[in-house]
Amino acid sequence: MKNNLALFGGKKTCNFQVKPFSSIGREELVAASKVIKSGTLSEYLGEKSREFNGGKYVNLFERQCEKYFGVKHAIVVNSWTSGLIAAVGALELNPGDEVIVPCWTMCATATSVLHWNAIPIFADICSEGYNIDIKKIEEKITKRTKAIMVVEMSGWPLDMLKIIKIAKKYKLKVISDNAQSIGSTYKNKYTGVLSDIGGYSLNYHKTIQCGEGGIIITNNNYYAQKMRLIRNHGEAVITNKSKKKLVNILGYNFRMGEIEAAISIQQLKKLKKIIKQKQTWAKILDNYLYDLKGLQIPKFKKGSSSSYYAYPLFYDEEYIGIKKSRIYKALIAEGVPLLSNSMNLLYDLPIYKNKIAYGNKNFPWSKNIYKGKINYGKQNCPQAEKLNKSNYLNFGLTLGNFNDKKIHTIGKAFQKVWKNLNQLN
Ligand SMILES: Cc1ncc(COP(=O)(O)O)c(C=O)c1O
Repeated sequence: MKNNLALFGGKKTCNFQVKPFSSIGREELVAASKVIKSGTLSEYLGEKSREFNGGKYVNLFERQCEKYFGVKHAIVVNSWTSGLIAAVGALELNPGDEVIVPCWTMCATATSVLHWNAIPIFADICSEGYNIDIKKIEEKITKRTKAIMVVEMSGWPLDMLKIIKIAKKYKLKVISDNAQSIGSTYKNKYTGVLSDIGGYSLNYHKTIQCGEGGIIITNNNYYAQKMRLIRNHGEAVITNKSKKKLVNILGYNFRMGEIEAAISIQQLKKLKKIIKQKQTWAKILDNYLYDLKGLQIPKFKKGSSSSYYAYPLFYDEEYIGIKKSRIYKALIAEGVPLLSNSMNLLYDLPIYKNKIAYGNKNFPWSKNIYKGKINYGKQNCPQAEKLNKSNYLNFGLTLGNFNDKKIHTIGKAFQKVWKNLNQLN
């Protein structure tokens, strides 16, 4: 850090602390207190009963989500990881079925597939939002493929109509992991609503939060019913007679509590305002960064918008001729609160790396299905590798309690580094 400061011969530009972002306030305090005073912190019963689908606030929050996002069903859960597991469960995959997932995402996207004894197949990403490369999806489809799982990283909306077209052609289902893109839009609709199943994370560092939680959305009645069963020990309430198609349910406890639901109701009311704020800050940054050579700022098509969980940048290392790692260090030395400058590509995690597809040990009944079929050691996604090494920079707009002044200063810090590029050579 010192070197970089000396290199540019001045003080670091961003001389301020960035506290973690939080929109939890009085409204949430009052809402949570009300639940505590009522004495009913959760109201589920894992048996056939009125309480099978949860308590007053859980149900209220679900109905509000349905209205807000414009979907038939919202099912709230205790994390989006649980939401993903329930979503994959609803597809009724067989052991060894394949689900295409991007290699560049948080690990839960892919492990939700493993939980059902199916196999995540990693697809490459592109520079647009570091999301799945739609052009590369088809080459991953085999006769075992049952679904495509897409992720909208940093809040960057995907061209879902193209993905749905591919899915229809091959009779596949689409799940979207919108953990980071709550409130983003595509064709003027909220992200997640066009998929067979979508949903959002409410963990503490997301745009809105309740500590830990998730919202699943779907317009499919059958999937909704199935996910409600998976959420709450469904195997205890179904009978072969009453729900013939719903046998083979392996239920969990994915239940959201009443305090979290009451807090989430307040947070949902704040979502539009929070996003507007992030978009204003993104615009300020755009104005500082748009003409810095070799740097591409986020840009969206008409009808699409980002909720800016983060502000991903494309740095053209080849064009500038300075290693991305040098630029990253220089920006950090200027006090720019960048996120880590690289992602863990999923196939490099020990659970996959050099392994024949996971499952044999933990799921002995599937041994014969997996053996020798997929060698993760041989999987690689060249574009993701290159983007990671040479191009990816990311600024966490949702992670800090910024204000306009700080964002202006961050913009100036970028400009200072670019003015001094020759010193980084
Ligand atoms: C892309 C993505 N998928 C899944 C998750 C898991 O969500 P949760 O933490 O709510 O379980 C996250 C959380 O950070 C995420 O970013």
